Amino acid sequence: MEVQQLSQQAKSAHDLMTRLTKLLHDRMLKYNWVGFYMLEDGAGSPSMLALGPFQGAMTPHTRIALHQGICGAAASTGQTVVVDDVSKDSRYLACSIETKSEIVVPVFVRGKVVGELDIDSHFPAAFKEEDRDLVEYCAGLVGRYLEKSAV
Ligand code: SME
Repeated sequence: MEVQQLSQQAKSAHDLMTRLTKLLHDRMLKYNWVGFYMLEDGAGSPSMLALGPFQGAMTPHTRIALHQGICGAAASTGQTVVVDDVSKDSRYLACSIETKSEIVVPVFVRGKVVGELDIDSHFPAAFKEEDRDLVEYCAGLVGRYLEKSAV
C-alpha cells in the first residue's frame, strides 16, 4: 500500500524511483543497496545501463554494458535474476565486498526493457518468493508510470 501511494505522490518518474529506493532501503532490513539502472539511448552504439536513483554506498559501476554483470543479464533477457551467492556467479560485478546475494528485476515500458531495479544484500539468499513479488511490483509501478508519462 505504501509503495502504491508513492506512485500517486510522485512528481516525476525520477522522483518515484528516488522515493522507492529510499522506502525499500529504509524499511527492508536486508536490502542494503537499492538502485535503478536505466538504459541509455544508444543511437548508433550498443546501449548501456546507466546508474539512476539509488540508496546505499556509492558503486564503482555507474555504467554497465548489456553483456556484463547480473545487471546486464537481467536487462538483455528481460527476466528477473536472483543470485543467492554472488561469489559463485561468474557474471557478478562486485559493488561492495559485503554483498552476498542480489536480485535484479527489469522495468518494462510497452513490453520493452527500459531499465531495472537492482537490490544487493549483505545476507546470503536474502531474496525469497515474497521479495521477488515485492521488487517486481515496484519495477512494474515504475514501468506503468513511465508509460503514462510518455503519451
Ligand atoms: N552487482 C551488479 C553490479 C551493480 S552493483 O551491485 C550496484 C552486477 O553484477 O551487475
